[in-house]
Amino acid sequence: MNCLFDLDGVLVDTAKYHYIAWKNLAKRLGFDFTEQDNERLKGVSRMASLEILLEVGGLSGKFSEEEKNAMAAEKNTEYVKLISQMTPDEILPGARQFLTDLRAAGIGVALGSASKNAQTILDRLQLAPLFDAIIDGTKVSKAKPDPEVFLKGAEALGAQPSDCCVFEDAAAGIEAARRGGMHCIGIGTPAVLSQADFCVNSLAEMTIDRLKQLFQ
Ligand code: BG6
Ligand code: MG
Repeated sequence: MNCLFDLDGVLVDTAKYHYIAWKNLAKRLGFDFTEQDNERLKGVSRMASLEILLEVGGLSGKFSEEEKNAMAAEKNTEYVKLISQMTPDEILPGARQFLTDLRAAGIGVALGSASKNAQTILDRLQLAPLFDAIIDGTKVSKAKPDPEVFLKGAEALGAQPSDCCVFEDAAAGIEAARRGGMHCIGIGTPAVLSQADFCVNSLAEMTIDRLKQLFQ
């Protein structure tokens, strides 16, 4: 039994910081970006997020690759400033305890995140030592729903995909887990995460016994 965790929305709520930085970029471009629009960015890579934002502003196809890279870099600079102030108080309910319990039980634990800032966030939250492997946006070339990030996590743990369970809050991440041949538990509502084996509201609802049931 091994566990693979998404980061944003599973271990920590970074969506609010992504939102501030994207909203400010939209403002500079002359349009409003709402919290509802921001929902579409969850689990989506940085450049794909920018494309969605430009679409919301009616600006799709209006910029060169160079200009888009500059916008994404600008957004990221602001985002990094925000996350560099994070503290362990921002770890989502139950996450640290569940990770600690898994380690104590000798269950492999890896991160499978699209974020290129994952290491910074884990360091700020003091969670990095609880992971056996960290696979993030700097180590993959294909975004979720492609299973690459989770398959690399399984490989780093020396585990077969069928012996892994993914924890995800985004539909694209659940699909990635499924395509990788893994079990998966949704953090959120089954209405959105219908492909999950089951959903919980947070990791505070998780126990090793509940996890074991999936592998029987
Ligand atoms: C995902 C987030 O984990 O990482 C997305 O859910 C984000 O919202 C993506 O766009 C990429 O993050 P970063 O830190 O590399 O810009
Ligand atoms: Mg997520």
